[in-house]
Amino acid sequence: MATDVQAVILVGGKGTRLRPLTLSAPKPMLPTAGVPFLTHLISRIRDAGVTDIVLGTSYQAEVFSDYYGDGADLGVKLTYVTETEALGTGGGIRNVFDELTADTVLVFNGDVLGGTDIREVLDTHRSSDAEVTLHLVRVGDPRAFGCVPTDGDGRVTAFLEKTQDPPTNQINAGTYVFRREVIAEIPAGRPVSVEREVFPRLLAAGRHVHAYVDDAYWRDMGTPEDFVRGSADLVRGIAPSPALRGAGGEALVKDGAQVAPDAVLIGGTVIGANAKIGSGARLDGAVIFDEAVVEDGAVVERSIVGFGARVGAGALVRDTVIGDHAVIGARCELLRGARVWPGVQLPESGIRFSTDV
Ligand code: GDD
Ligand code: MG
Repeated sequence: MATDVQAVILVGGKGTRLRPLTLSAPKPMLPTAGVPFLTHLISRIRDAGVTDIVLGTSYQAEVFSDYYGDGADLGVKLTYVTETEALGTGGGIRNVFDELTADTVLVFNGDVLGGTDIREVLDTHRSSDAEVTLHLVRVGDPRAFGCVPTDGDGRVTAFLEKTQDPPTNQINAGTYVFRREVIAEIPAGRPVSVEREVFPRLLAAGRHVHAYVDDAYWRDMGTPEDFVRGSADLVRGIAPSPALRGAGGEALVKDGAQVAPDAVLIGGTVIGANAKIGSGARLDGAVIFDEAVVEDGAVVERSIVGFGARVGAGALVRDTVIGDHAVIGARCELLRGARVWPGVQLPESGIRFSTDV
């Protein structure tokens, strides 16, 4: 057991890229393959032997404590520290300092779905005797992330947050190991970005920041496309999660959902509790939240349908986010990044991309 290690999870962001879903719930609490996203991450941390976990909250802080309480149901001890004004990623880490007793502190962005061996990250940190260790992955397009070049010894040489001209495709995967005393150096009481301020300053001062690079499953769940894909990967068993037993089918149907026998559920679709799926509906990579309804013959592809929302008969919903309790009229067509705000009601055939109504 890694009792000399504590974990901090940053969950204070507003999740703007996932609006409107994040108007009613913080991003890490959105249902993902049947449970709040954060449950997958907490379970992974627990299975690595780290059970003392501090949540750095800000936006909708109470949603976390109301749901998880002291963490006993998940076999961990959870502590909550809330920023009344968001302090950013570095400020959020500094803000939990009083709760830190272990010398080694694992820090996680709260929206990353990953399969990395957390113990290996810790082992690398210890064997390199670094002050900070960053988990890095390689991606096709690094511009949306922190770009992190390293030297031949595995030392980090620079940290370039969201640069248009990335020198490498190695990026910050959003998991760090800190020596506790380094966290004490972060300025307190004001917003600080760990990516734009803390890491660049440590590197400019020649401090030892090390890299752990691997090719395990990794996805930032911060956009609708990635959220839909990550959820489907969990359902299909492509993304590992100790919180999901027996994953590996084409669809996951929660208790109390009613699915017509001739509805087609494929591509890692999730049907939330008490949701209803009508006859002849076709759902491919769909994320249907609790109590939502998809009527007869509707098609939902790579889209999220919010709590209690309704997709009318014969509608087509593709690459779209539908807010809670919105109503999509029969035969409407929503495509390519459409976002329907909560409670909005679109009349029958009210939006179309084709002319053959
Ligand atoms: N407590 C607290 N306070 N948490 C915050 C705050 C804050 O003010 N701002 C953001 N967070 C949390 C978010 O909830 C999220 O879990 C995490 O910090 C990262 O924020 P994102 O908004 O998701 O950042 P990003 O995805 O654009 O970029 C970050 O993650 C990438 C990897 O997924 C950066 O760390 C990049 O360097 C990295 O590549
Ligand atoms: Mg993110």
